[in-house]
Amino acid sequence: MIKVINVVGARPNFMKVAPVVEAMRRRAAEFAPLVVHTGQHYDARMSGDFFRDLGLPEPDVHLGVGSGSHAQQTAAVMQLFEPVVLEEKPDWVVVVGDVNSTLACALVCAKLRVPVAHVEAGLRSRDRTMPEEVNRVLTDQIADLLLTPSADADRNLLAEGISAERIRLVGNVMIDSLLKHLALAGRSKVREELNVEGRDYAVVTLHRPSNVDDPATLSRIVSALAKISERLPVVFPAHPRTRRMLAEFGLLGSFEGGGRLRLVEPLGYLDFLRLYSGAALVLTDSGGIQEETTALGVPCLTLRENTERPVTVEVGTNKVVGRDPARIVREAESALALRRDGAPPRVPPLWDGHAADRILDALLERQR
Ligand code: UD1
Repeated sequence: MIKVINVVGARPNFMKVAPVVEAMRRRAAEFAPLVVHTGQHYDARMSGDFFRDLGLPEPDVHLGVGSGSHAQQTAAVMQLFEPVVLEEKPDWVVVVGDVNSTLACALVCAKLRVPVAHVEAGLRSRDRTMPEEVNRVLTDQIADLLLTPSADADRNLLAEGISAERIRLVGNVMIDSLLKHLALAGRSKVREELNVEGRDYAVVTLHRPSNVDDPATLSRIVSALAKISERLPVVFPAHPRTRRMLAEFGLLGSFEGGGRLRLVEPLGYLDFLRLYSGAALVLTDSGGIQEETTALGVPCLTLRENTERPVTVEVGTNKVVGRDPARIVREAESALALRRDGAPPRVPPLWDGHAADRILDALLERQR
């Protein structure tokens, strides 16, 4: 029996951990899972709603760290996570993704010499101005088991001198959640509520500091979205940080007057899945959404200068277009002109809904 602490902290963690915890509960003769929530995200719309939608059990331990500067947040997670590890004495700790909670918990384990596995290891944007890139590189250096979603991630790790024995290609566990919840999301009425059912519409998400914290950049992106909304309705579920910045920079006016460019509250997992799965186009700076649109064959424009997920461009529907408004509008027009032909989407190998069981098998194999 392997005792495992599964760490969640922020919104993009929940859909990666849910299938792992579910598989551990199913394989209860082999695994005893605990869930620790650091509290990096705490609003119901950023956290609690995802536990409900994904059927994640209530956390066994909630650290309640909340927001702060990177140093404050990372340090607070470390200070509060260390006693939990000392008390619970797990055989493994599983961390996912690239948020501050991921690095903080991996670092605690490395110092206590408790084995730690990193799910979604090996992704690299090669852009050290992204806090997530720093979190990825450092977590992969100190984790004992690196569970990768795609072959490019294995190559990145090997190129950094990490030995092949520490690396296992398991596929994309976020796609386990997506495939499992697709039918259930069909019951969501979000398209009707937003009055886009049966129509062409676009969906936007933005939350990267590089896009939303600078007034000039954010205002240029909003001007591109306004232009695109002349062609089709654009729905923008805004991260709390983004909404705050739009208000601070005096940009909320672009979304007023019941026009075709609409700012809405962040959506839960099932409502958001229902919304983007029917979109003619998605524009985003998220990492996970690049993968989810690839899995479903929905055209995606990534409003960044780079991606740590190149397989979504090489195999999938993603295109990295930067932040120049004229280019965003041009790329949106050409993506919309290419009507989808109904053929099944091209999906990278092992994005098949069974990554969680491969993760558990890799843990068992290392335990022996
Ligand atoms: C974090 C992750 C990012 C991930 C994103 C998904 C890091 C470095 N960044 O960024 O990789 O893509 O989550 O959302 O870990 N806030 C709320 N309510 C909440 C959470 C945050 O209002 O529940 C606000 C606070 O003002 C906070 C700000 O959002 O200061 C930023 O939150 P934070 O967790 O620091 O980073 P994110 O931008 O969410």
